[in-house]
Amino acid sequence: MAPRVLISDKLSDAAVQIFRDRGVEVDFRPELGKDKDALLAVIGDYDGLAIRSATKVTEKVIAEATNLKVIGRAGIGVDNVDIPAASKKGIIVMNTPFGNSITTAEHAIAMMFAVARQIPEASTSTHAGKWEKSRFMGVELTHKTLGVIGAGNIGSIVIDRALGLRMKVIAYDPFLSEERATEIGVEKVELDDLLKRSDFITLHVPLTDQTRNILSAENIAKLKPGVRIVNCARGGLVDEAALADALKDGRVAGAAFDVFAEEPATASPLFNLPNVVVTPHLGAATTEAQENVALQVAEQMSDYLLTGA
Ligand code: MLT
Repeated sequence: MAPRVLISDKLSDAAVQIFRDRGVEVDFRPELGKDKDALLAVIGDYDGLAIRSATKVTEKVIAEATNLKVIGRAGIGVDNVDIPAASKKGIIVMNTPFGNSITTAEHAIAMMFAVARQIPEASTSTHAGKWEKSRFMGVELTHKTLGVIGAGNIGSIVIDRALGLRMKVIAYDPFLSEERATEIGVEKVELDDLLKRSDFITLHVPLTDQTRNILSAENIAKLKPGVRIVNCARGGLVDEAALADALKDGRVAGAAFDVFAEEPATASPLFNLPNVVVTPHLGAATTEAQENVALQVAEQMSDYLLTGA
């Protein structure tokens, strides 16, 4: 009997086609990602579950998933899956760590430019018929020090692009070897050093017990005055209330956030502050990235379900 896969989030049509071409039965029901009771009612029928970030694969969902063998996350973060509960039942959790890295790195660079030149506020003002040339004085990126927290897939692409912009790049990452740092053209530093030296800081680490609140109130107090902070990684890495205080008293000159402690974010201490650019977790939102992650997750899940590889 052909294995059955449920897609419970919005995934590119390409994924459906791949499953079908490979002989996997697939149901595309993106509405289930937001309806946990409906998901609980049907999950027992499936061997595979393909998701993005909306579906929360809780312990309860896993308990009902009597046939489930694999959960495939089209994207990087698996923080919406209860991995210990899945592992206890022998369910494999796979992601697509490379499919949206470039897109997310590009968003971080775009956010850095946006906050350096106050582009969103200048755009709103110009649309309103104002011509506030002197209000929007920016700063150059060239020769500024960029501190990158996390030099993995996405962080190293950001480093490459920032070097192309002639920035001086320093990185904090306990897993970065000196050899790799030299290879990617970055100076490896301790966190305190990065906090004190950076004109811009961008975060590219997952949210774990070690990284939660890495920019805590205590660390925010150590930042170089006038720094601008970019977070396109995960909410919870930065103490939003402490950062809002530092923005209000001018110690931090700007912030650009794509991710928030609570998502969907309808309120945040960072909202409505001047020179804070915010976007609704768009890091992976390009047609190219969504196509890539959908194709990759469908291929990986099909391989696993059909051959166990
Ligand atoms: C990811 O983890 O792949 C990104 O944050 C994108 C997303 O969650 O949609």
